[in-house]
Amino acid sequence: MVTIEPRAGGDAAETPGQGSTPEQVEAVAQDALAAAARDLVQSAVGSGRRSVWVLNGVNLGRLGTREPTIYGHTSYAQLANRLVALGDELGLDVDVRQTDDEATMIGWLHAAADASTPVVLNPAAWSHYSIALRDAVAQRTADLIEIHISNTHTREEFRHHSVVSAVATGVIAGLGTAGYELALRYLADQT
Ligand code: DQA
Repeated sequence: MVTIEPRAGGDAAETPGQGSTPEQVEAVAQDALAAAARDLVQSAVGSGRRSVWVLNGVNLGRLGTREPTIYGHTSYAQLANRLVALGDELGLDVDVRQTDDEATMIGWLHAAADASTPVVLNPAAWSHYSIALRDAVAQRTADLIEIHISNTHTREEFRHHSVVSAVATGVIAGLGTAGYELALRYLADQT
């Protein structure tokens, strides 16, 4: 399932921006249709597969247009659809979510802890200062892989430290959006 939290005053992340070409609009529509079809099939047949949540923090809904020289050109919707499709290949029920609201993220982490659901988490800017987020991650009862698309260690000093890393199972940084895929493959290999 692909969830995009509404953001006050912002466009939905999978909405093509102004000036998009008809091809881009069609690609986004096709991604949305494919995701809806997968959700329908899954709710009809039931999956019985292991669940993994991919949780994305503040500003990550803007992937594709946000500083593409750092974060790449893949949109959030494209990434989410790619991860759900990879989950299908790996036998995982992948639920991809994004929020700009810290309380919502902490609620998701509590729910994952209660259900012992493994998590792939990109805590985004919260990585660098949110003790509340770190304390929520510390309550985990299953693997949690911290992801950064960029190599935070080669960037500004304030990005070098993550308060989340010490309570995560492992960290992948600097491999672009491939980091999410590697994390899913790792989780799929766990028994
Ligand atoms: C990020 C790195 C963070 O420093 C930044 O605030 C982000 C994204 C990454 O994926 O590279 O929002 O987590």
